[in-house]
Amino acid sequence: MPESVTDRCTKAHEYIFLFSKSKKYYFNHAAMLEPATYDNRKKLTRAPSKKYLKGGTGLAVQGLSKGGSNRWNEQNGVFVRNRRSVWNVPTRAFKGAHFATFPPDLIKPCIAAGCPENGVVLDCFMGAGTTALVACDLGRNYVGIELNEEYVKIAEQRLADTFKKV
Ligand SMILES: C[S@@+](CC[C@H](N)C(=O)[O-])C[C@H]1O[C@@H](n2cnc3c(N)ncnc32)[C@H](O)[C@@H]1O
Repeated sequence: MPESVTDRCTKAHEYIFLFSKSKKYYFNHAAMLEPATYDNRKKLTRAPSKKYLKGGTGLAVQGLSKGGSNRWNEQNGVFVRNRRSVWNVPTRAFKGAHFATFPPDLIKPCIAAGCPENGVVLDCFMGAGTTALVACDLGRNYVGIELNEEYVKIAEQRLADTFKKV
């Protein structure tokens, strides 16, 4: 949420926590890559890594030569790197009567990397249903929990409006 304050800096970040119940967990690394600026230090010599080709996103990742401090990878013609811990995600206005929806672009990589296709995403604070929308869009199922019945109606209507158009 934007903060219009004049007695301190405006907070420009929020935290996302990645928790897991077990040491080994599903994580589609290819879905978490972000664009990188390739500096030509390494030539394209390595075959695409099987590790990156697996995982169900359909995103092919081409590897560049291994070594040094960088491993250059290409995804659909764009150089990519493992996503960094600071993300810039523009806010998106939501016209409905819910004031704290998050932008779909925030949750997209989390769902794509954290849940396999046809898997189930649980959102315990469903609000206006952004998680459900993105989950359906990415071919995942969802279970949503929401305290406020009015928000449940908003989420259901939003889902119906979005998917009847497809
Ligand atoms: C920040 S909003 C979530 C917005 C959602 N991510 C979206 O994009 O629409 C948090 C939601 O959690 C709901 N909530 C708060 N406490 C809850 C509880 N104990 N159980 C279920 N829902 C709860 C609130 O009613 C609110 O709609």
